[in-house]
Amino acid sequence: MPEDRYDARIAAAYDAWMADQFRPEVVSATVDFLSEYADDGRALEFAVGTGRIALPLSRRGVDVSGIELSPAMVEQLRAKHGSEAIDVTIGDMATTRVGGTFMLVYLVFNTIMNLQTQDEQVACFQNAADHLEPGGHFVIEVIVPALQRLPLGETLVAFDASDGHAGVDRYDVVNQTLVSRHYFVGDGEVLQEDSPHRYAYPAEYDLMAKMAGLSLVGRWADWQREPFTATSPSHVSVWVKP
Ligand SMILES: C[S@@+](CC[C@H](N)C(=O)[O-])C[C@H]1O[C@@H](n2cnc3c(N)ncnc32)[C@H](O)[C@@H]1O
Repeated sequence: MPEDRYDARIAAAYDAWMADQFRPEVVSATVDFLSEYADDGRALEFAVGTGRIALPLSRRGVDVSGIELSPAMVEQLRAKHGSEAIDVTIGDMATTRVGGTFMLVYLVFNTIMNLQTQDEQVACFQNAADHLEPGGHFVIEVIVPALQRLPLGETLVAFDASDGHAGVDRYDVVNQTLVSRHYFVGDGEVLQEDSPHRYAYPAEYDLMAKMAGLSLVGRWADWQREPFTATSPSHVSVWVKP
């Protein structure tokens, strides 16, 4: 099993620390997009966390299940109204199999990058494909590696400097990994958290999908389906199981 980095302290603070991602306009755009692909069928969220997306998707009438590595994150989810509708299995999204099949499997907020080897990411795509019904879709939301912002030999890219949070990514271009260093400010103290990731360009995810028998349907810059361009910082990609 991969290391569970979301302990009770982080899980309790997660929603407040990620307040930007909980903004109603962010959540509703995500849920609008995903509910189209759920297509009146069941949906499975890999790394469901505290239910940021699963809960509002469930409130739209979609039958949502989840896989999550961190029991502490699920405990936070369980404290929320409506969470009893969401069946969650504790496990690794690269290997854990849940019962039944789904019209939609989705993995948002860069979390494919939490799998730190290519083998694990390949296994995750295969696991998504194995859970899909024919005609079902796998959706991911993930950053594009910011290597164009790195002068030769440099490693640091700042990605946030908002109220209460600053973040810097340290790239290792030899091993195709990065460590996101977060500084959270609150209650008169600063908390520092490091989060290790493996990054990949869209074409590598397309190859992982192809290996799992999935075909690319579309790639957009965001949940509103703005065109994906050379300067898009992230993408929403959709593959279908034929
Ligand atoms: C950035 S949070 C995203 C949570 C939620 N999807 C959201 O959008 O708010 C990352 C989550 O991925 C979970 N996670 C990390 N690696 C995992 C794995 N291998 N299998 C399942 N969950 C994993 C973490 O425990 C954490 O809850």
